[in-house]
Amino acid sequence: MPKYYLTTPLYYVNAAPHIGHTYTTMAAETIARFQRMQGFDAVMFTGTDEHGQKVERAAEAMGKSPQEFADAISAEFRNQWEKLNIRVDRTIRTTDPRHHRVVRWLFQRCLDNGFIYKGSYTGQYCVYDELYVNEAKPGDPCPECGRTTETVTEENYFFKLSAFTERLLELYETQPDFILPETRRNEVLSFVRQGLNDLSISRTTLKWGIPLPVEGHHVFYVWFDALIGYMSAVDGEDLWPADLHLIGKEIVRFHAIFWPAFLMAAELPLPKRIFAHGWLLFENDKMSKSRGNIVRAEPIREVMGADALRYFLLREIVFGQDGAFSYDALVNRYNSDLANGLGNLASRTLTMIGQYRGGAIPEGGETEIAALANDTIRTVRGAFGRFEFSKGLEAVWALISAVDKFIVQMAPWKVWRQRDDASQRQLDVTLYTAAEALRIATALLAPVLPQSAPKIWAQLGMTEPIEAVRFDTLAWGGLPPGQKVGEVSGVFPRIELKEAVAKMRAMEEQVTAGQAALLGKKTEPAPAPADGGIGIEDFSKVELRVAQVKTAERVKGADKLMHMKVDIGEAEPRSIVAGIAEAYTPEQLVNRKVVIVANLQPRKLRGIESNGMIVAASVEGGKPVLAGFHEDIPVGARLK
Ligand code: MSP
Repeated sequence: MPKYYLTTPLYYVNAAPHIGHTYTTMAAETIARFQRMQGFDAVMFTGTDEHGQKVERAAEAMGKSPQEFADAISAEFRNQWEKLNIRVDRTIRTTDPRHHRVVRWLFQRCLDNGFIYKGSYTGQYCVYDELYVNEAKPGDPCPECGRTTETVTEENYFFKLSAFTERLLELYETQPDFILPETRRNEVLSFVRQGLNDLSISRTTLKWGIPLPVEGHHVFYVWFDALIGYMSAVDGEDLWPADLHLIGKEIVRFHAIFWPAFLMAAELPLPKRIFAHGWLLFENDKMSKSRGNIVRAEPIREVMGADALRYFLLREIVFGQDGAFSYDALVNRYNSDLANGLGNLASRTLTMIGQYRGGAIPEGGETEIAALANDTIRTVRGAFGRFEFSKGLEAVWALISAVDKFIVQMAPWKVWRQRDDASQRQLDVTLYTAAEALRIATALLAPVLPQSAPKIWAQLGMTEPIEAVRFDTLAWGGLPPGQKVGEVSGVFPRIELKEAVAKMRAMEEQVTAGQAALLGKKTEPAPAPADGGIGIEDFSKVELRVAQVKTAERVKGADKLMHMKVDIGEAEPRSIVAGIAEAYTPEQLVNRKVVIVANLQPRKLRGIESNGMIVAASVEGGKPVLAGFHEDIPVGARLK
């Protein structure tokens, strides 16, 4: 059997998983299941990226050693996948000695081939993205995340990335589907066409990494280390090269430029394809810890089931593009497609077969539905093969609704009472058609509904495991007449919208608190010291920053409120609503430098997002007075 090795990114263990990670992992595992239906021996990989400054600092903030911290979070990731019916075939933690060996081995090969040299670097570095920003000046923001870069000087080992500009361009030319979708390919092309700089692949400024097999205290740059995880996970097996790296769009550069160049330098085979999907947005923003707008899979699984989440993510969002997550949309999709659509078709069909035919599948078949079902098989195969999940799923639901209409038209509940042969034959045809279409839809949905599809399958009386279904043999007519259907029970009960959303939101808060506790962070406010003051650690939790007001307008219907967009050096200005509209006019505010609390949880005021708080002084009965500076100070500077 040909193999199909596919991977998710190795997730950072600086924070517990959220549905952004679940999105990639569920999509990848759906592809694995789909490829098995195509006859491949699909091997699904996911892992954790445990080194680097980001993890070191996160651990430090929790008072843990990086190893302890990484142990706890990586266990969280593994635990999640298991609970969400995500079957992981291979995995690696980058702290595993097995991985260290492969990283050193690959480094040595690059060194022996003359692609690594020792040099020195002074420049700006973004700790958050673990990225050297060559073009930046001190104090400049990181082009990726907008956070202020830090100046570092280091003696480093460099990888001769510049030597690969031409070979990479040739790769993208000769293998136009190496990077998908097209938009991402174009970004990479234009970046590489400008010429590539050599890349520093070692660090002396941090300890938490894999030591280089050279003199001195160098550890590997976290991306050199992590990318190799795709290989070390299958070391000694015949699985490399990977057939697919599935990633989020923000890490395309590392996968489509650095990674093939490392492999070329080491004379190793390249992965066949990189697919970058879009971002899952929540409340119109990329989900992230620092923005405080995180949604986790756990409450969704508890209230709606893991299949509901997987279905929603793959049906609602065009794979490759950004898409919004919302609890309401999730419940609405569930009710319309899973409860009323698939679930209803299954229960009414099976109940009728029980009632009218003693639970035995009759003989028959309506040609139009049969043709549509065979078309649907082809459509799904093609669409899933191109990672167009929403299109494939849409086609299955077109089949389901055609069958629903057909049943209504044929009115089996009326025909049943007519005892003549023609009517009874018509009833057979109706019931077989519904059941066979249901069988086909269920088989096609197995990669997306790994928990529920087998249940419907069993209710149809199928004995062959659903995992054994192959596209090559899946066709109309496979349901054997005479087969006894199993016990009928509803697979997707209807869910009450408001109640479910409230439950998920409440649980989300609990899970967040639980996870914080797991990591050793205190969630209840620390007791005040005996002398009534607070410790410096308490103060340092408050992130005060210099912000410049870009726009200001009064909030309609609220005399006190002003809505502002302020720049604090992040990629996008922040939206802040403050009660200063009686003290200042919008004109007085625009361009003014103010102080904001930058790490407050965002909240909505009059329906407008407020992501931060402006610092102002006020006296009883008086108007607020904004804090400011006499000297000039760059935007984003932190007050400490
Ligand atoms: N450790 C690196 C990857 C190294 S791979 C050799 C890393 N880790 S990460 O924890 O930040 O994970 C990033 C990946 O998680 C994204 O590329 C994407 O697959 C997934 N996502 C995280 N948040 C996401 C969204 N909000 N939306 C969509 N995908 C998200 O980068």
